[in-house]
Amino acid sequence: MEKTYNIALLPGDGIGKEISIQAKRIINFLSKKNQLHVNLSDELVGGASIDEFGTPLSEETLNRIKKSDAIILGAVGGPKWEKLDFKIRPERGLLRIRKELDLFANFRPALVFDPLIDSSSLKPEIIKGLDILIIRELTGGIYFGEPRGIEKIDGKNFKGFNTLSYTSKEIERIAEVAFKTAMIRSKKLCSVDKANVLESTELWRNVIIDVSKRYPDVELTHMYVDNAAMQLVRNPKQFDVIVTTNMFGDILSDCASMLTGSLGMLPSASIGVMANGEKKAMYEPVHGSAPDIAGMGIANPLAMILSVGMMFKYSFENELLSNKIIKAVKSVLEKGFRTRDILTSGNKEISTSEMGDKILEELEK
Ligand code: IPM
Ligand code: MG
Repeated sequence: MEKTYNIALLPGDGIGKEISIQAKRIINFLSKKNQLHVNLSDELVGGASIDEFGTPLSEETLNRIKKSDAIILGAVGGPKWEKLDFKIRPERGLLRIRKELDLFANFRPALVFDPLIDSSSLKPEIIKGLDILIIRELTGGIYFGEPRGIEKIDGKNFKGFNTLSYTSKEIERIAEVAFKTAMIRSKKLCSVDKANVLESTELWRNVIIDVSKRYPDVELTHMYVDNAAMQLVRNPKQFDVIVTTNMFGDILSDCASMLTGSLGMLPSASIGVMANGEKKAMYEPVHGSAPDIAGMGIANPLAMILSVGMMFKYSFENELLSNKIIKAVKSVLEKGFRTRDILTSGNKEISTSEMGDKILEELEK
């Protein structure tokens, strides 16, 4: 029997909804054209789920998406839910999926498309040809460490606290992913930590060095996170693969995304392996729900569409379709079509859905 690909689509909130419509069009088109059996189901997460079920991720949704072959997520959050208790805010839905499915390895590539060179705030020669990959540890570190909370100390004083901890096991498995990835790229790996100040990342550094012994062909460097942030804007092309902790990866990937011209261009893949060896993965744009432009039809769907491309590569081992999507994005940009976030003079502004049309036209060829 032919394989069916079960994909759970979680548009979430804000522009997540609009860009998900475009993702759906691309998936439906490609599956039809290539005779793939795709079963696409819509699910609620974040604020959308709070409005419907009173929780950012219902047990039923979680159970269903656990059974899917891949998850695509738009974005979560917005001002409407900001005042809610921390534990039921939209972001908790996303974090819970990452944790429950143990999606510990987050791939965030930053690729500069030549036609977008002028959209970046950096000089063209600094970013031309840039192609780096940030591998962010996604289920540990300060995002999940216990104890955490806000406590009253006395009458009017409070204490807010979080815990940054990593076990050697957690570091070892992300290190393995990073070294393996470096081996199939340019064999250069930079590990980013704050080992001069934080013990948890001193351990990080030690474990990375241990694992490196199994990969003698990979040239390993270490960098403190403050320096890495500076180097990313000074000379980003010195990097190829970067591996780092959950929070540092969150910050550095936003920084890396702007090198490419817009946060609206960056896809991501979060991958984990279940106890039974089964691979789980979620694909999402790096950007957020952008409530300020939600519903206006001007959001850039390309990070989302490129995330679909990553899904074909990592979940369905179909690099051909993945490359086709990247190529289509390239061609559309070369022709001068732009959403507002990447618009520069001499180019043509188009809407979110028109960008979807253009990509489909390219894929049709
Ligand atoms: C990201 C986002 C999330 C994170 C938020 C929405 C919880 O910023 O995916 O980078 O901090 O991980
Ligand atoms: Mg972030």
